[in-house]
Amino acid sequence: MDAADVSQDLDHVLFTEEQIHQRLDELATQIDADYAGREPLLVGVLNGAVMTMSDLARAMHSHMQMDWMAVSSYGAATKSSGVVRILKDLSCDIRDRDVLIVEDIIDTGLTLNYLLDHLRGRGPASVEIMAMFRKPDALQVDVPVRYIGFDIPNEFVVGYGLDYAQRYRNLRDVGTLAPHVYS
Ligand code: IMP
Repeated sequence: MDAADVSQDLDHVLFTEEQIHQRLDELATQIDADYAGREPLLVGVLNGAVMTMSDLARAMHSHMQMDWMAVSSYGAATKSSGVVRILKDLSCDIRDRDVLIVEDIIDTGLTLNYLLDHLRGRGPASVEIMAMFRKPDALQVDVPVRYIGFDIPNEFVVGYGLDYAQRYRNLRDVGTLAPHVYS
């Protein structure tokens, strides 16, 4: 789906598919270098990180492994509460592994803060975070993010895996919604 397909629903496009891919190429180069000689386990957080994970993984030139978790935050639909429930756990043991959590977006940071703590308790060799987007003005906890795609304004965005009411995940670009969609 292109921005043109849902132009009436979008207020404006923040990042095009090309800009996202270009940034992912840069991050992949950095990750390849940082993990040289190791084989990181990329842990994608479902469902939002699906696009980021698949493009990042393909942009990398070295071996990596992939696993997935699904979590849900208790509380209102568009606000994070910091209390996280694991809906789908990892399929593999991460003891002594180099784990790189791949997340779509950091808003309050509460979800990742919980996940980071939780995964550290399983005895991995290392745990780092890669997030495609981050809203610095919305952060409530200081999450140590190693790799960040773009910092964005404190607005609700959709596309590239990010949804509103489960829609727009398949939008190639990332944009803000027009008010009539959610009001
Ligand atoms: P946090 O715990 O507040 O950092 O929330 C993170 C999660 O909330 C993300 O993984 C998304 O699923 C969701 N989220 C936060 N902001 C947005 C947004 O602007 N668009 C779509 N989903 C969002």
